Amino acid sequence: MTSVLVLNGPNLNLLGTRQPEIYGTTTLADVEAICADHGAAQGFDVTCLQSNHEGGLVDAIHGAKGVHDGIVLNAGAYTHTSIALHDAIVGVELPVVELHLSNIHARESFRHTSFIAPVAVGMICGFGAPGYVLALDALLGHLGRAK
Ligand code: DQA
Repeated sequence: MTSVLVLNGPNLNLLGTRQPEIYGTTTLADVEAICADHGAAQGFDVTCLQSNHEGGLVDAIHGAKGVHDGIVLNAGAYTHTSIALHDAIVGVELPVVELHLSNIHARESFRHTSFIAPVAVGMICGFGAPGYVLALDALLGHLGRAK
């Protein structure tokens, strides 16, 4: 069975209460349940992890190799700073769909740069929590095409 890692980065554990005008009121537990339900309905396995630490995210990406077929990654603010995450994605050679709840291109200029984007299959941003389902479908579509 196809297996996908949904990996969330710093501050996303605060979803639901963190700047709800930007990120919505859906909690991380809700997001993870939505992803698991979508996987169950569509017949693929979903594992969800969250870390506030850059090294924890690097370790999770390394750990995905040989276990999962691809990653949906919301790297939070590390998106805009982390060469280590960029290098980890290159290192494991797994397809990654970059995901952001908010439209990072409509926000502060420091959010317009992504170190993930050049090594991602593509990016979903600006659609809030439903974006995770869009990202899963995009990754599954990519994996289907890649077979
Ligand atoms: C975010 C956007 C980032 O710029 C921000 O640092 C986050 C969340 C999003 O999902 O919209 O933590 O990745």
